[in-house]
Amino acid sequence: MSKLSAFLILFLGLVSASRCPSSFSIPRSDAVDHVNALIGNGGDTPNGSGGMIPSTAPPFAMTRWVAQTHENYVSVTPYNHTAKAIHGFQGTHQPAIWMGESGQVVVVPGTGQQIKSRFDERGLVFSNATEVITPSYYCVDLQVGNGEVILAEQSATSRVGHLRFTFPPKAPPYVLLEATRPTALTSIPTNITYPLGSVAIDPARREITGTNSERQDWIITPTSTATSAGHFRGYFCARFDTAFAAWGVAQNGSVRAGADAGMGSLLSGYARFAEGTRAVSVRVGVSFISVDQARRNLDAEIPDGVQLEETARRTRTAWAEKLDRVTLEGATEEDKEVFYTAFFHSLQYPYEQDEGGHYYSGYDNTVHKGVSYTGYSIWDTFRAEWAWLILFAPERVPGMITSMLQDYKEGGWLPMWKNIVGTHADSLIAEAVIKGVDGFDMGLAWEAAYKDGTIPPDNDWNTSYSDREENVGYEVRAGLSSVYAEKGWVADDVHSESASRTLDYAYDDYALYRLADALGKSADVVNALRGRAMSAPFTLFNNATGFMEARNASGAWAGADAGWTEGDKWAYSFDVVHDVPALVRHRGGNASFVRSLDDHFDGGHNDHSNEPSHHIPYLYALAGAASKTQERVREIAKANYNNTPTGLSGNEDCGQMSAWYMFSALGFYPVNPVSGEYVVGSPFFDRITLNLPGQAKPLTITAEGAASARYVRALTVNGQAVVWPILRHEQIAAGGDVRFEMSDIPETWGGVTESL
Ligand SMILES: *[C@@H]1O[C@H](CO)[C@@H](O)[C@H](O)[C@H]1NC(C)=O
Ligand SMILES: *[C@@H]1O[C@H](CO)[C@@H](O)[C@H](O)[C@H]1NC(C)=O
Ligand SMILES: *[C@@H]1O[C@H](CO)[C@@H](O)[C@H](O)[C@H]1NC(C)=O
Ligand SMILES: *[C@@H]1O[C@H](CO)[C@@H](O)[C@H](O)[C@H]1NC(C)=O
Ligand SMILES: *[C@@H]1O[C@H](CO)[C@@H](O)[C@H](O)[C@H]1NC(C)=O
Ligand SMILES: *[C@@H]1O[C@H](CO)[C@@H](O)[C@H](O)[C@H]1NC(C)=O
Ligand SMILES: *[C@@H]1O[C@H](CO)[C@@H](O)[C@H](O)[C@H]1NC(C)=O
Ligand SMILES: *[C@@H]1O[C@H](CO)[C@@H](O)[C@H](O)[C@H]1NC(C)=O
Ligand SMILES: *[C@@H]1O[C@H](CO)[C@@H](O)[C@H](O)[C@H]1NC(C)=O
Repeated sequence: MSKLSAFLILFLGLVSASRCPSSFSIPRSDAVDHVNALIGNGGDTPNGSGGMIPSTAPPFAMTRWVAQTHENYVSVTPYNHTAKAIHGFQGTHQPAIWMGESGQVVVVPGTGQQIKSRFDERGLVFSNATEVITPSYYCVDLQVGNGEVILAEQSATSRVGHLRFTFPPKAPPYVLLEATRPTALTSIPTNITYPLGSVAIDPARREITGTNSERQDWIITPTSTATSAGHFRGYFCARFDTAFAAWGVAQNGSVRAGADAGMGSLLSGYARFAEGTRAVSVRVGVSFISVDQARRNLDAEIPDGVQLEETARRTRTAWAEKLDRVTLEGATEEDKEVFYTAFFHSLQYPYEQDEGGHYYSGYDNTVHKGVSYTGYSIWDTFRAEWAWLILFAPERVPGMITSMLQDYKEGGWLPMWKNIVGTHADSLIAEAVIKGVDGFDMGLAWEAAYKDGTIPPDNDWNTSYSDREENVGYEVRAGLSSVYAEKGWVADDVHSESASRTLDYAYDDYALYRLADALGKSADVVNALRGRAMSAPFTLFNNATGFMEARNASGAWAGADAGWTEGDKWAYSFDVVHDVPALVRHRGGNASFVRSLDDHFDGGHNDHSNEPSHHIPYLYALAGAASKTQERVREIAKANYNNTPTGLSGNEDCGQMSAWYMFSALGFYPVNPVSGEYVVGSPFFDRITLNLPGQAKPLTITAEGAASARYVRALTVNGQAVVWPILRHEQIAAGGDVRFEMSDIPETWGGVTESL
């Protein structure tokens, strides 16, 4: 610490004595203490960082709470660590930076005679030196002038936020609940008031309740979906522990003192407290069903009388129950922060959407019985995040699949991450079945997945289904009917992103083939799916250039840069994870394939900040050059992950960036998720012990000296030598003893292909 910063901290300390505790660490958990929730909140462009926020909530929480520095929209997060002021505490449903917000509520403390409700006037300056940021407890000093501060503390359960504000002695304190805000929408359906919301104040119950119809998909396609989920609302019920001295409604800066209800946009309800009131606690139940349900959520999760410390302790316990399942030996403090923060991120998605055994469905605009999850980001998470959840949250996987099947029943299709290609829900289901997960309707799962592979979307012959195209049907396998089902490729002159679609559909067909096989479907069905999965990718292989390329319906090559989704010909030419031997053959055999991988990496074409590159370093090992996988994986981990706000090179994408890191740290990665196999890389630490849920014995991964020796000389599983760089799910899922012998020079273990 420089003398100057020591002086500044001392100076700030004098001006506004911080009363936040130095940490919140009950119960003890070394793993949770290493979560650094600022990792991924940086970057030069909003999409250039992880897009993550230091939120407070338990794993898979329906609503996450965060100090609000910005009004969040697509590409803007509600918290930015470089900001100088906090404008409230937001219960957010924004799943990732490139999606919008929906049904949010903001709690704002203030002091003084004038109620400051508008975002631009209510910000209170804070110093990040006073912040305590943990997964279960957040605290900050907010400066209100004259050296006085409001101490703001935040915790939460899945559906209820818990805030406590300690006000300075003399200022008349108030707290407002913001239901609706201005909107970034440019085209609003003329017959709909947007955003619409309401507030109501009940001083006898010490409650402020409200509704908010803001919905992220209106921002993408306001007109086409304006009626489909018309009953969508975020509802809240905020109950205070302190009697109201006065109350009112504020709308766009004008205050109606004494009003007990209001409707419209830019709307807040507030309560004032008797002068001299020091601490005010408020619990905010959130719901997608009704205000009554929000109240029930509040009473169920944080009943009257529960103190904030107790909420924070319970939520920390929930994190510790998961994160303490992994212990790292031989990891630095930075390594531990990167690993446990990755673990923290990976267990936020998909998130709960059911309340009291019911959930609101946007597909049919009604409330149903059952469990529900949302925020799958399947195009990203089918790669490794799902495999991580199968290992660490197996108790939730059947519910997550059941929720996808409900989407199918209510909307006609399994969910996709709707503005991106492929029907990778097929892969999630197949992987779960192949790894032995049950507890969901297997017959319905097959029906839904098989429909993806066999039924094209509406007007498939004359609709491009381009990125975020408005007023079109549900995209699913756009191009299935145009050429794919016959000749094997999606035609570039008919459909957007045709080359990526072709390769993704082929993989999804492979997932369907494996599922059909596992479920004992007829040989005709199994063989047809298998045939298409294996032949389709190579219809794009241009023998003349050695790369995958998009093609028109006529068969003509459409150009090397045409038809890609968030990637290019370099990454996608390695995108046949389900048939790497055939890919290797097409690219001239092992030695030539290894050379093409070297060209890819040495030429700067690997883009780890986006998912199409994630499996590529592991392909060396499948062509007899395991030591090169080991080298590349270590380099990628070092270059793309660290423990600072810019510590994720790319978007977190609902856990996939982190899942790559964690599997790589263990020493293996699910290149072809539905195969049930992992490709071996290079474990990062001396020893990792994993207590997988439901397993009698731990999985111990030993790799003495791994920090400096990145190459593998030998590998055993439960004493048996492993000679190929492959581990099967059964070899690790029930615990056991995985031992790597590490070396500081490249070894021939796992294959002997030379690249020269
Ligand atoms: C935070 O703000 C800085 C400065 O305006 C900006 O460069 C950065 O992209 C922002 N980060 C996020 C995640 O929005
Ligand atoms: C990321 O944002 C920058 C500028 O904000 C933009 O130029 C770039 O195209 C964006 N990248 C993606 C992949 O959206
Ligand atoms: C904390 O604030 C200081 C001063 O504004 C800034 O230099 C520093 O980068 C901030 N720290 C983080 C982690 O954002
Ligand atoms: C708004 O207008 C659209 C198109 O004219 C119509 O289908 C829809 O029912 C209207 N919505 C409401 C809420 O009146
Ligand atoms: C809110 O008030 C501002 C300034 O008083 C005004 O410019 C703006 O149009 C108002 N917004 C709405 C939605 O009424
Ligand atoms: C596509 O074809 C369908 C059925 O022939 C027709 O109803 C629809 O208007 C067409 N759409 C476009 C964009 O041409
Ligand atoms: C592919 O189709 C597009 C759109 O019809 C056309 O402009 C292009 O010339 C075609 N390419 C070839 C090589 O035929
Ligand atoms: C590439 O060459 C192989 C073997 O010579 C051949 O079978 C295949 O049809 C060719 N692919 C294309 C797209 O021309
Ligand atoms: C290529 O490497 C793989 C993985 O080591 C091996 O199984 C395969 O036999 C090799 N192929 C040839 C032709 O040597």
